[in-house]
Amino acid sequence: MTLDSRQQANQSDLASLTLIGAASIDKEHLALFAQLDRLHGNPSAHPDTEAFLEVFSRLGRQIGAHFDSEEAILKACGMPPDQIAAHVRAHDEILEQYAQLNLDLMEGKTLTRSEALLTIKRWIIDHVVHHDTRIRAYLPELT
Ligand SMILES: [Fe+2]
Ligand SMILES: [Fe+2]
Repeated sequence: MTLDSRQQANQSDLASLTLIGAASIDKEHLALFAQLDRLHGNPSAHPDTEAFLEVFSRLGRQIGAHFDSEEAILKACGMPPDQIAAHVRAHDEILEQYAQLNLDLMEGKTLTRSEALLTIKRWIIDHVVHHDTRIRAYLPELT
């Protein structure tokens, strides 16, 4: 198996493990996973390079827009208010961490590629696995 096909296999495993069942959300998650993959697939994308910063800035906009659309679904799906509040708080924490890291990078703070990728993985994959997959149980109420 080539590295590319192995990555694709992992990608489709991840896609099926994290399917929520709301097409727009699932599509946005895949787009976020693809950005992380782009960074993983380019070994020269260190945090101080144009290649990294370009993806990182697009990722910030994408995450913000995704959280807005996901929160609209969260608030309409019948999930208990305390669970919604905890999920929205997790989004806000990610947005704060993103803004702080963006500031750090602009101020020239050195960060290794693996630290940066690990942080982005926490924002994208870990969040989807630990928070977003809980939405599944409430989606039938939307239909
Ligand atoms: Fe999400
Ligand atoms: Fe979320």
